[in-house]
Amino acid sequence: MMNFKTLFVVLATATTGLNANPVPQGGNQGSGSGTGPFGPASYSTEGSLSSHTLYAPKNIPSGSKLPILIWGNGGCSANGLDFQGFLNEISSHGVFVISQGTPNGRGQTNSGQMKTALDWVFSGSSKYHQYLEKSRVSVSGMSCGGVEAYDLAGDSRVGNIGIFNSGLMSPADSQRIAATIRKPVFFFLGGRGDIAYENGERDYRVLPQGTPSWKGNLDVGHGGTYSQPNGGKFGVAAVRFFQWTLRGNATASQFFTNDAEATQAGWQVEKKNLNGVQVTPL
Ligand SMILES: *[C@@H]1O[C@H](CO)[C@@H](O)[C@H](O)[C@H]1NC(C)=O
Repeated sequence: MMNFKTLFVVLATATTGLNANPVPQGGNQGSGSGTGPFGPASYSTEGSLSSHTLYAPKNIPSGSKLPILIWGNGGCSANGLDFQGFLNEISSHGVFVISQGTPNGRGQTNSGQMKTALDWVFSGSSKYHQYLEKSRVSVSGMSCGGVEAYDLAGDSRVGNIGIFNSGLMSPADSQRIAATIRKPVFFFLGGRGDIAYENGERDYRVLPQGTPSWKGNLDVGHGGTYSQPNGGKFGVAAVRFFQWTLRGNATASQFFTNDAEATQAGWQVEKKNLNGVQVTPL
């Protein structure tokens, strides 16, 4: 069987995939500059972090603080615009996003570059430094990017992990990594048709007792809804995740703690230990 990470990469880069049907790739940029109260958002770059793309609200109200999302793309792509609409949507809700890869960059990234981004946040060299809430960091990613994110789970500066259409590549990896994570891990999967379905399901199952976790499956397959304006339903769910776990928005927490909104949107959900997520409002 093909190595799973390779398969993720193949799926992200192939135009026709392994069978006759075009394979949904995830990403594909999407559109929209975000619908949130901090919007519109847009991307930029800084020379002091030359291998990444930054997403921020265009007008940040003075005195406000933005928590941080470090994001890994499908295929571990080095194009920081692959999830542009989705990441603008997140940023427009008051999050500073650092995507792996440069605008229209080529090739692949690795999790070491996520650590570089995290170190950069803490170095204070960003133009955005005064706005950054460094005590609130999520590391998340889609498909191969989710596998990258797992590599930073043990870093004490990381508060939670978001696994989008992803999961670890083998039962041994799940035991070695997922089974040891005590911080919150949220899964956003594409249902049985998602090639990462079994992997994400397995990771959810093996988390240690007590680890706060939520898992939703929306029956759209591996590509999610990222290419829809503002990231579609995955954009909505991701926004709720970050509003709650990074900004301490109690209303947004209800998307996860009370299944009604998610279920109505088509997500099949499971959750455990969510009372372990306690975040004071920013
Ligand atoms: C909190 O989240 C809810 C639901 O996502 C949203 O409608 C509301 O505007 C948010 N509140 C703040 C202060 O951002």
